Amino acid sequence: MQITSFKQYEEDYKKSVENPEQFWGEVAQNFQWRKPWFKVLSWNFNEPNIKWFEGAKLNITENCLDRHLATNGDKPAIVWEPNNPEEESVTYTYKMLHERVCRFANVLKRNGAKKGDRICIYMPMVPELAIAVLACARIGAVHSVIFGGFSAKSIADRINDSQCKVVITADGSYRGNKQIPLKDVIDDALIGCPTVEKCIVLTHIRTPVSMLKGRDVWWEDEVKHVNDICEAEEMDAEDMLFILYTSGSTGKPKGVVHTCGGYMVYAGYTFSNVFNYQPGEVYFCTADIGWITGHSYIVYGPLSQGATSVLFEGIPTYPTPSRFWDIVEKHKVNTLYTAPTAIRSLMSYGEDPLNGKDLSSIRVLGSVGEPINEEAWHWFDEKIGHGKAPIVDTWWQTETGGIMISPIATVTPTKPSFATLPLPGIQPILVDENGNEIEGNGVMGNLCIKFPWPGMLRTTYGDHERCKQTYFSTYENLYFTGDGCLRDEDGYYRITGRVDDVLNVSGHRIGTAEVENAINMHAGVVESAVVGYPHDVKGQGIYAFVIYPEMHGEAELSKKDILQTVTRVIGAIAKPDKILFVSGLPKTRSGKIMRRILRKIAEGDTANLGDTSTLLDPGVVEEIIAAAKKL
Ligand code: WTA
Repeated sequence: MQITSFKQYEEDYKKSVENPEQFWGEVAQNFQWRKPWFKVLSWNFNEPNIKWFEGAKLNITENCLDRHLATNGDKPAIVWEPNNPEEESVTYTYKMLHERVCRFANVLKRNGAKKGDRICIYMPMVPELAIAVLACARIGAVHSVIFGGFSAKSIADRINDSQCKVVITADGSYRGNKQIPLKDVIDDALIGCPTVEKCIVLTHIRTPVSMLKGRDVWWEDEVKHVNDICEAEEMDAEDMLFILYTSGSTGKPKGVVHTCGGYMVYAGYTFSNVFNYQPGEVYFCTADIGWITGHSYIVYGPLSQGATSVLFEGIPTYPTPSRFWDIVEKHKVNTLYTAPTAIRSLMSYGEDPLNGKDLSSIRVLGSVGEPINEEAWHWFDEKIGHGKAPIVDTWWQTETGGIMISPIATVTPTKPSFATLPLPGIQPILVDENGNEIEGNGVMGNLCIKFPWPGMLRTTYGDHERCKQTYFSTYENLYFTGDGCLRDEDGYYRITGRVDDVLNVSGHRIGTAEVENAINMHAGVVESAVVGYPHDVKGQGIYAFVIYPEMHGEAELSKKDILQTVTRVIGAIAKPDKILFVSGLPKTRSGKIMRRILRKIAEGDTANLGDTSTLLDPGVVEEIIAAAKKL
């Protein structure tokens, strides 16, 4: 199933469009099924109703673990690199990982979890996180992993939305020289979560925690009470595998639902091809398992292909900005998959951190999460890849389950800042505002996908109508990505960024409405409007315009208070970079905030504000411009 030449890519692509069912049916043969499908695909984008590999039975963990045991049982599956480089790294072979997953699956059962139950996972980047994820999949429970940076309130909202029965967490986590008390955060969250019956707590940083009698149990105690034999639950291809919450243009995050069969095939196929993974190679994805990149390209994709996946607990700059390069050298990393924001941040330290580091093991480089600017692309290419490692700039989304538009390493000629060409099976089209296809090359438009692929979302948890409205209603019969896109003269695709009210801050998706809701919760704030602006390292920064007449004390103190409120309501990742206090916001006569104007002001481009004559009070714009200049 691995593509080895551009000619083969073209042939496979053609086949995947002309006969998608045959194409994906053949790809799926590379996986282990308990029962075959009777129909590869049935679909319509109106309801939407999408089914892949109908009738097939499987368990994804048999594909990620059991099937490797006979031939590759002693091969490293996960190599864990701790936050503190002085501590030992830990290697789990496929045999060991299988054993741990089965054991913990039995712990889940012992604590009342069964097929179909939702389980919330809020953990540091430790091997037990991957074990917890796979243990859920083993017993057919649906995992909902929540990134360790979210606040108690965000966790509670997510737990309640999907009525989780069990929570898996740790006492705390390390992030550089900081410690984060995860269990404390969970305790705050669970006050408002009536559906949670059990909380399993891993000891990690050894900070004191409170354990609630009857609800909270220790991971280490529990594993002593069970054995390591756990037959995998037989799942239907379309049974739910996981929920992952992501931000959209409305205030409330949506639970994107992925199912067992299609997701497995798509994550495995794309991993093997995009990175041109070769047996025995060491692959390092720097994402967190709390995001989709970690789900598909730290856990499921690599393990389904028997790969060695490095799992790193820490951050790129701790203890020094050489950390990534130390890890590459120490574990002889062959593929490094990271985010533009990390590249830009490391670039800013100059070349010193690279001095004396042996990066010769690197064969393939990858980028994900946001558009990569040319400067960062070239630095990555020259300084890290020494001009010899192809860069795969992979465009995709939580909703797509896996990589959609990307070069195939060693196959597709790359071009800086271009995600290049669609993978086999992916049929992108560009449309104008009215949904008319923009044909030909050298054009720009809104990016849509016109045919299903196995890894696509099936619904948004508990609210199918929302899935339909968000993705399938903007343009008839198309999946709308929310991204703007350019197709150049060569037919290469470059993603230009979101065209909706979603920000991409350091590769994290944040809805402007979510941040506004959080700011508005602060006592005394009347109203706020949040927009993005270009930020050298983060890609986009968050700029908040806030009406706060009863400000207490100094403006700086008030800003601190607001930042704290946002941290409490969402998490530190959503803290505005800039807050500007204003007396009014530019609104149309019908009361709509004209964000276009605020965006221009935030970008510092006030010469081209465009038409402001429809504003209720054009004077407010002058006032905001004057205040912004002083910020
Ligand atoms: C953006 C992350 C440009 C895009 C996998 C998308 C990108 C959103 C790229 C999804 C890329 C992701 N080039 N933009 N290579 N990859 N994006 O759901 O705006 O966290 O819609 O999934 O990130 O973010 P999400």
